Amino acid sequence: MPVDGDAPVYGQTVCVTGAGGFIASWIVKLLLERGYTVKGTVRNPEDPKNGHLKELEGAKERLILCKADLLDYESIKLAIGGCDGVFHTASPVTDDPEKMVEPAVNGTRNVIIAASEAKVRRVVFTSSIGAVHMDPNRSPDVVVDESCWSNLDFCKNTKNWYCYGKAVAEQAAWEVAKEKGVDLAVVCPVLTLGPLLQSNLNASIVHVLKYLTGSAKTYANSVQAYVHVRDVALAHILVFESPSSSFGRYLCAESVLHRGEVCDILAKYFPEYPIPTKCSDEASPRAQPYRFSNQKLKDLGLEFTPVKQCLYDTVKSLQEKGHLSVPPRREETVVSHY
Ligand SMILES: NC(=O)c1ccc[n+]([C@@H]2O[C@H](COP(=O)([O-])OP(=O)(O)OC[C@H]3O[C@@H](n4cnc5c(N)ncnc54)[C@H](OP(=O)(O)O)[C@@H]3O)[C@@H](O)[C@H]2O)c1
Repeated sequence: MPVDGDAPVYGQTVCVTGAGGFIASWIVKLLLERGYTVKGTVRNPEDPKNGHLKELEGAKERLILCKADLLDYESIKLAIGGCDGVFHTASPVTDDPEKMVEPAVNGTRNVIIAASEAKVRRVVFTSSIGAVHMDPNRSPDVVVDESCWSNLDFCKNTKNWYCYGKAVAEQAAWEVAKEKGVDLAVVCPVLTLGPLLQSNLNASIVHVLKYLTGSAKTYANSVQAYVHVRDVALAHILVFESPSSSFGRYLCAESVLHRGEVCDILAKYFPEYPIPTKCSDEASPRAQPYRFSNQKLKDLGLEFTPVKQCLYDTVKSLQEKGHLSVPPRREETVVSHY
């Protein structure tokens, strides 16, 4: 079973869309470490926010940055031309319907059609838990897995345009792939945390940052599923490399926690920050975690990083990248992280 650190795969060229993003940067990093040549699409190769890509090990020899926009078919076609595979990770991450839906859906169509013309071996599409679990009619006893789909009417009615866009984009990916005979595999990550390779912040990291800066005074009475960014990147590569992953869908999740549990973990490791201790809705019963299965990725050899490590790595990275100041610790509050 090929797992991270195994023998490199020399000679194959793959395209990663939105290469400068949080998850895509990790996919590029692991692909370069495994010996692939990577064509990474960015909207502006000269933008300093993509500078970290050039610093990755192997980038000088095997990373080509291609200027491409998802809605510009010719630019996507040029980037995918000559590739053995595609990792389609680029997507707007927003709840603004104008900015979200068209690039997510038509951009995905463009990528699959270009992959079909280039006769690539497989496309791996980055979907989301947002395409999987948004269904108010699902019984709490149901184990959330790859057979679940979000309810589009519910997403629309609740104006959750991110989940709506991801679900419709994934549906479009399956539809066009079948029509064009493109081998597709889909990874559905949950909220992704861990060390940033890029210098700017992305939406999922802000989820944790707000609990450390004092901007969140309380935590919500809700649950969230979490996964480490390195595991998400590795999941993409495993499903690309594994013959059995053809037309497979993979839920990429390590655990589901109440926001209160997240704050407790953060407070244990980083007591120097003003982490909320109260729930915003103490009158209602505490929201309960849902059950889920990550067995399909475990079967491919993925060993998930525990969520405590994931939260610890996120905060250390926020400090190292200068997004979070490091207040002095009182001697008696110092804890080791393991
Ligand atoms: N982070 C999570 O918790 C999470 C969880 C589940 C799924 N996902 C999915 O994972 C993927 C990456 O998310 P992320 O958190 O890494 O987000 P991110 O850091 O915001 O990266 C998104 C990337 O998409 C690119 N992009 C957006 N619109 C584009 C367009 N029209 N043409 C070309 N590129 C475009 C952005 O390029 P620019 O830099 O040029 O804007 C950026 O590189 C997305 O598909 C997201 O839905 C993320």
